[in-house]
Amino acid sequence: MSKIIGVIGGDGIGPEVLTEGLKVLDAAGVELDTVSYDLGGDRYLRDATVLTDAIVQEWRGLDALYLGAVGTPDVPPGVIERGLLLRMRFELDLYVNRRPFHAPDDSFDFEVIRENTEGSYAGEGGFLRKNTPAEIATQGSVNTRFGVERCIRYAFDLARSRPGRHLTLVHKTNVLTFAGDLWQRTFNEVATEYTDVATAYNHVDAACIYFVQDPKSYDVIVTDNLFGDILTDLGGAVSGGIGLAASANLNPDRTGPSMFEPVHGSAPDIVGTGKANPIAAILSAAMMAEFLGEASAASRIREACAEVKNHQGTTTEIGDAIAERV
Ligand code: IPM
Ligand code: MN
Repeated sequence: MSKIIGVIGGDGIGPEVLTEGLKVLDAAGVELDTVSYDLGGDRYLRDATVLTDAIVQEWRGLDALYLGAVGTPDVPPGVIERGLLLRMRFELDLYVNRRPFHAPDDSFDFEVIRENTEGSYAGEGGFLRKNTPAEIATQGSVNTRFGVERCIRYAFDLARSRPGRHLTLVHKTNVLTFAGDLWQRTFNEVATEYTDVATAYNHVDAACIYFVQDPKSYDVIVTDNLFGDILTDLGGAVSGGIGLAASANLNPDRTGPSMFEPVHGSAPDIVGTGKANPIAAILSAAMMAEFLGEASAASRIREACAEVKNHQGTTTEIGDAIAERV
């Protein structure tokens, strides 16, 4: 049965890379109907709309969302990030952010599972005496047993499904002694139910070294929202560049649509030049196909991306080369 996908091209190179992703899905025989949503920084500058309740309600009836990139230099920081991206993650309960990293030379292959609805992204905090010399800004981090546990369970299930059967918790338990303690205790307790998965713990600063010097030591990593944000940019940098990094914002309980997007941003400096690498968006489309039950299409797309990854070409040429191969 054909699936209905909400397509949010967004700003900058977002629409360009999504065109290639949709082209490849079509070539792979994934049957989709699409509904486009004009959202992002450009829309905001036009009529001050970030996202409406009606749109969120409409999304609940879709099978998935596919997003290019949002962000325009003229919009103040946070407006689109919090009002669109984070609101999607919170309201659709996309509590797992799954980001796979594969070395260009096949020397490593690991995945980061980032908690996607809590931590310092929850928005706890505020100002006191704003714009005075005595100004105070606080920014809290929310960590619930419920939220931490469901993310850790997802990571254990993923680790169990992979040949490596290894899961590393990344946190900063030596300094963040409250949140870190909750994460470590929950991790240890859930681990007793997964005796077939080997476990490890790294502080986040040490993990930065291992990402660069020994990435093959990882199989699956689970971590909090902000650490996961930072680590996955580093993951992209060490595995062929952010132009290849794909991501899935998942509601594993399927009480609503999940959202698939490249890790990269809107790159307004290269919009319209054909320089945008569509592979991150195409690999995100493969994650979407897989989540929607099209595992064989997903693996054909991944193989085609691997075959063309050293090709030079424009956004469209790379998309065409992948579409031909699937
Ligand atoms: C990401 C992005 C977002 C995040 C921003 C744009 C809100 O950096 O998806 O990694 O911080 O999660
Ligand atoms: Mn990020």
